[in-house]
Amino acid sequence: MRTFVTVVGARPNFMKAAPLHRAFQAYAEHIRHLIVHTGQHYDTNMSDVFFTELELPEPDLYLGVGSGSHAEQTARIMTAFERVLLEMHPDLVIVVGDVNSTLACAVTAAKLMIPIAHVEAGLRSFDRSMPEEINRIVTDILSDYLFVTEKAGMINLAREGVPADKVHFVGDVMIDSLVRYRERARATRVLESFGLSPRGYALVTLHRPSNVDEPDRLRRVLAVFEALENETRIVFPVHPRTRTRMDESGLGKRFGTLPHVTLCEPLGYLQFLALMDDAALVMTDSGGIQEETSFLGVPCLTLRENTERPVTIELGTNRLCGLDVDCIVSLAREILAGKVKPHTLPPLWDGHAAERIAAVLAAAFGVPRAGTN
Ligand code: UD1
Repeated sequence: MRTFVTVVGARPNFMKAAPLHRAFQAYAEHIRHLIVHTGQHYDTNMSDVFFTELELPEPDLYLGVGSGSHAEQTARIMTAFERVLLEMHPDLVIVVGDVNSTLACAVTAAKLMIPIAHVEAGLRSFDRSMPEEINRIVTDILSDYLFVTEKAGMINLAREGVPADKVHFVGDVMIDSLVRYRERARATRVLESFGLSPRGYALVTLHRPSNVDEPDRLRRVLAVFEALENETRIVFPVHPRTRTRMDESGLGKRFGTLPHVTLCEPLGYLQFLALMDDAALVMTDSGGIQEETSFLGVPCLTLRENTERPVTIELGTNRLCGLDVDCIVSLAREILAGKVKPHTLPPLWDGHAAERIAAVLAAAFGVPRAGTN
């Protein structure tokens, strides 16, 4: 029996781990797949709701590290995860995405000589002011199995000298979750509960420190909202970091009094997916949402200067605007008037990425698929 440990920590990890867990069930006779939750995100609506909705079992271990500065949080995760690894002696540690939990657990496993698989490897924004870029670079350099979502990832890893036999182009596990739960998301009837009609609103998310930590930047977001007052309703589920910054700067009240804007708490996976699917337009600084909107064919304006997911621009529905108010407002108006850029689906975004990953890892560890031995 082999033991594989998949690490989750923050909100964008859960929808990536769920399809992997399901895919490993086909090898359950030979692979014990365990889930370790670091506790980087801990609020019910940032964590628990995803386990329920994505049908993930309770984590086998919960490390409860909580929030802190980057160094504090990373160090706490490493200390706790080292104990786990020394006790469990897994054959493989699987990390997903680019959050602090990804980096911390990869470093810990590497120092104990435990092989590492990185799911969503090779993405690069080439912007080291983003903590996620540091997390991606370090995790990839330490990984033995690198699973890539888009062509740019293959090119980046080749350029960095990662041997080709470590790298596997498999598609996008986050899209696996989206494909599986799209219908169930519609059944949440979240539009009715907000009093919205399909394509009658813009959906907004913002949480990057570079966008929300400075009041001046938040004021620009407010200016975008104000400019669109007569053109669309806006739904804005507010991340806890953003909520704190809005309150500290006194801007929360001004956002809250705009008549066409609905502010709400962060939403669960299904409700948020349903809102994305029926939006006229999404404005975001998230990484994953650029991919999800591209898959759904919903226009996306990314409020960042760069993206580590260029396929969403080349083939998908995504456009970069930074926090340039004029650019955002004029592109939003075009989209609301029905001018949408042509788009197609990126290769292998077909709902089966996790099965490909499980097959590669099973073969690497000499594990036959159920019923074939
Ligand atoms: C983290 C990830 C980011 C990801 C995002 C998704 C890193 C470096 N950043 O950013 O890549 O896109 O998650 O949400 O790993 N907080 C709560 N409740 C929670 C979690 C956080 O209130 O359950 C608050 C705390 O005040 C905390 C702040 O949010 O200090 C930031 O949380 P943190 O995990 O440090 O980073 P995120 O901004 O969420």
